[in-house]
Amino acid sequence: TQIHRVIAHSFHLKRISLPWLAPQTRLENGKMSNQRLRMPSQSLFNKTVALLFSKRSTRTRLAAETAASLLGGRALFLGKDDIQIGVNESVRDSARVIGGMCEGIFARVGDHSEIEELARYSPVPVLNALSSLWHPTQVLADLLTLTENAYLFDSSLRSRANKDAYSTKHKQLDELRPLTIAYVGDCANVLNDMLVMYPRLGHKVRVGAPENPKYRPPKAVWDRVVELGCDKGIFMTADPREAVHGADVVITDTWISMGQEAEKEQRLKDFEGYQVTEKLCKEGGANADWKFMHCLPRKQEEVDDEVFYGPRSLVFEESDNRKWTIMAVFDLLFGKWDLVGRKQEA
Ligand code: CP
Ligand code: NVA
Repeated sequence: TQIHRVIAHSFHLKRISLPWLAPQTRLENGKMSNQRLRMPSQSLFNKTVALLFSKRSTRTRLAAETAASLLGGRALFLGKDDIQIGVNESVRDSARVIGGMCEGIFARVGDHSEIEELARYSPVPVLNALSSLWHPTQVLADLLTLTENAYLFDSSLRSRANKDAYSTKHKQLDELRPLTIAYVGDCANVLNDMLVMYPRLGHKVRVGAPENPKYRPPKAVWDRVVELGCDKGIFMTADPREAVHGADVVITDTWISMGQEAEKEQRLKDFEGYQVTEKLCKEGGANADWKFMHCLPRKQEEVDDEVFYGPRSLVFEESDNRKWTIMAVFDLLFGKWDLVGRKQEA
């Protein structure tokens, strides 16, 4: 599938870009060298990707800027206070103007309709850097992280890893066995993309979220889940313990997404009891060696320090992998696409 292609490409780009992961070869003098370290494709050479961000970002912005430069191109950060969009100029006109000078748009927006509007009127491809409904590049990084750590979930791979966990993890991408992935907390953009991705790849998703419909996936998301046949792989409950039952991985996100700051007090009350802890996962019957992931930024209320900084946590590998997955998507979507592909003027 396209998803597998992006994951394999991300892994490839990571291995050829990081000296300590590059395959070693023996030179004539007997010394080992990273001779196979290669420059990634310079598919963004002389190209610019506009980063149209109306909300804050650390990871997504860093990943996009560093990835674009490794691909030989430039990422142009356009924050909401920098340009005319939304204040003096419509989204429609901005899309046409930005797309007239750049080869791609990576956009972080408020309401999801804004990104659809951008995509409708941009002459160049538009990639979602987070919207009210979806956060697709996040779940790609999550999937790469899980796949690189496939040996943690599979006893037959683990015996090989016992000899050399490092090369098990970095030499090749092993296939991930079907996992049970639990999500505990607010059903927001990150979870929504999990719901339309993991079941298609054969994994089960168990969600623990308060019954109030505002903390559950909205209709637009659920319609897509059903359309893709993902609903059969999803179990929903209001009980966080039931949600983590049999989980190989437990994932959460902030309870207060960007733009919901005014609801903070109410949300802290409504999500009481949903904090991811050792105790909760033990009581719920998660697998003994469950792992933890979080898109970040993280607050203590949704996961305690013991889990977040403990040996189960994959969170910083996950944030590193934002770069390689975004680089893969940039390469495939913006890099290997050129002026010929430009939409005709309406
Ligand atoms: N996970 C994530 O998207 O982080 P940023 O908001 O810092 O980009
Ligand atoms: N759900 C969070 C994700 C941040 C990366 C938000 O939208 O703020």
